[in-house]
Amino acid sequence: MTYDAQAVRALLDEILAALASAPESDETRALRERLARFTALSGAELTPALALEASAIPLGAMRVFPKEARGQVGAKANAMKQAADAALAQEKEAALALALAEERTGKGFDATLPPPLPSRGSLHPITQVTRELEDLFTSMGWTILDGPEVETEHFNFDALNISPDHPARDTMDTFWVKTAPGAERLVMRTHTSPVQVRAMKRLTPPFRAIVPGKVFRNEALDASHEHTFHQMEGLVVGKDISVGHLIGAMKTLLRGIFGRDIEIRLRPGYFPFVEPGFELDARCPFCKEGCSVCKRSTWIELLPCGMVHPNVLRAGGIDPEQWTGFAFGLGLSRLVMLRFSIDDIRHLLGGDVRFLEQF
Ligand code: DAH
Repeated sequence: MTYDAQAVRALLDEILAALASAPESDETRALRERLARFTALSGAELTPALALEASAIPLGAMRVFPKEARGQVGAKANAMKQAADAALAQEKEAALALALAEERTGKGFDATLPPPLPSRGSLHPITQVTRELEDLFTSMGWTILDGPEVETEHFNFDALNISPDHPARDTMDTFWVKTAPGAERLVMRTHTSPVQVRAMKRLTPPFRAIVPGKVFRNEALDASHEHTFHQMEGLVVGKDISVGHLIGAMKTLLRGIFGRDIEIRLRPGYFPFVEPGFELDARCPFCKEGCSVCKRSTWIELLPCGMVHPNVLRAGGIDPEQWTGFAFGLGLSRLVMLRFSIDDIRHLLGGDVRFLEQF
């Protein structure tokens, strides 16, 4: 069936005629006006696409027509829609056939042009920094370890010398996993530190290891708080390991990250799994006099660390009389933000390609 604009026009006129026997109202007036736009067109102007548009108008306002006319109006509008649909399908097919025919004649084909490049993804900034740090540490003989993201209460808290009443265990801070009554309690690990104890149980000292990975906190979210973020734990256990070794390793780490020597300072910090514990600050790598990154202080709080607590060594089956160690917990997400000047932590795992494409 070929598309016949005159026949479509006749259908439109019949619909208008049915409308004429309806009581006059704002609705009938509006409908008539909308339909008039199409009846005003000449045959050639009433294309299938416009006919499709016109057919939708009465179908969407059936109750305006007198009851006895509704069946007929519906049938006419449907006939109009069918004629338009069929014509559009034919147009599409013809355009496709034409394009294909042109392609087959080789028109517009240039064999000397390079082929279109496949689009390529890129590594997530967290992956980039993680890999760099892994390269740095493995080049110094450290091992890379992994641990479960759903962790037992024992490894996440108890084995790390965190007391049963420590506020970190609160459901306000920690995602507890529902477990059967009486079964061992599970958490989404709140830090990478539990892998310290897992490492001690698996490896024989002396050893050195880093543990990059995801951690989870029940946080109120804002530009610097996210429920899921990344840390990188470090652990060294050996003979006569001292704070001097800790400082040396941290300076090497910072040199690896920022590409030059960075001044550091240690402040006392309390973490139940280290004694003594420190907050290590790095001299702001972005300014000399203070900037927004270092909050005008010229120091950036970067690396909590300390000497492994004897109770933790014992929990890992290591004799604290024979062995000592140090540990650190690098805020990997924070470091990635510093490195790429990312101002909102929620961008990192938000999955927005407009963000990801920038790396
Ligand atoms: N696990 C601590 C946290 O998430 C960070 C930390 C502090 C790790 C001191 C350490 C450490 O290894 O020695 O807040």
